[in-house]
Amino acid sequence: MQTITILRPDDWHLHFRDNDMLSETVPATARCFKRAIVMPNLVPPVTTTELALAYRSRILDARPVGSDFEPLVTLYLTNNTTSQDIREAKQAGIVACKLYPAGATTNSAAAVEGIEALYPVFETMAEEGVLLLIHGEVTDSHIDIFDREKCFIDQHLSKIVDAFPTLKVVFEHITTKDAADFVLASSVNVAATITPQHLLLNRNDLLVGGVKPHNYCLPVLKRNTHQQALRAVVAAGSEKFFLGTDSAPHEKHAKESACGCAGCYSAWSAIELYAEVFEQLGAMDKLEGFASIFGPQFYGLPVNQDTITLSKQSWDVPQEITLPNGNPIVPFYAGQTLNWKLDV
Ligand code: DOR
Ligand code: ZN
Repeated sequence: MQTITILRPDDWHLHFRDNDMLSETVPATARCFKRAIVMPNLVPPVTTTELALAYRSRILDARPVGSDFEPLVTLYLTNNTTSQDIREAKQAGIVACKLYPAGATTNSAAAVEGIEALYPVFETMAEEGVLLLIHGEVTDSHIDIFDREKCFIDQHLSKIVDAFPTLKVVFEHITTKDAADFVLASSVNVAATITPQHLLLNRNDLLVGGVKPHNYCLPVLKRNTHQQALRAVVAAGSEKFFLGTDSAPHEKHAKESACGCAGCYSAWSAIELYAEVFEQLGAMDKLEGFASIFGPQFYGLPVNQDTITLSKQSWDVPQEITLPNGNPIVPFYAGQTLNWKLDV
């Protein structure tokens, strides 16, 4: 196979950041994807419809000339979010809200403590057809970082999906066999996104031979058996799993630090990284469903009508990219060779 043409994909989970960073991140994603679910963990977080719409227009302003890229901005749930906030968001065309347990990841200090307190809000989300996107990790200091996703399922997620059977829930960036099994066993209203790094790598790629800060993200890479379980569900072509890169830029100095930030900036090679995985799995015929069909199907949005083509062509991911502020960023997979390239 020398080329593959698929319906235009969407990215169902990423971080664009804000202000001058948008002139880097938005074109990088718009080169390939038609839509993206944009995470709201700005400083301060995007907690209201007014903030979300203002953020959306800053993103639209950063699109390359002629681009029809469509950002799908989200609301950041806090303990102060009300049912009225949800109804207002729905009216404004916001399709999803993000639940970060407080302290789970980058800029999540303002997030939710005591998830049950938000149950009235989840009720309204179910009524209004607004999706709940979940960063599924507990944050208790005594829980081992490698067990935090499994604990979240047992302590919280299983209760949420039982209590709200009609609420559509996306278990974001899953990293474990436990999460994949939970999603497979749940109703049609529960799905998951999977990142390229969690399909391509495991914790050895983070820790063996020296710490690799550019492979550090949250939830952290897990052991090989979990990576294999994620690869198996995408190779099987289950409709419950779809593309969400979690592309999350941090400047080089913030990653290569004594207290390095979590996040992999994968936007410039996203579809190529996934193509690599599906080819390794002998499942290129399953790429289109994962990248372009199952996401919109779950969100209840139309599948894109146009297509993209990837060609078999070796190229190296750049070692560094210069950000609009002049500072360097190291993209995910920097310096490594990929075998597929998006035709432009
Ligand atoms: O690795 C991550 N980076 N995981 C997240 O959940 C947040 C993200 C970020 O915002 O940098
Ligand atoms: Zn994320």
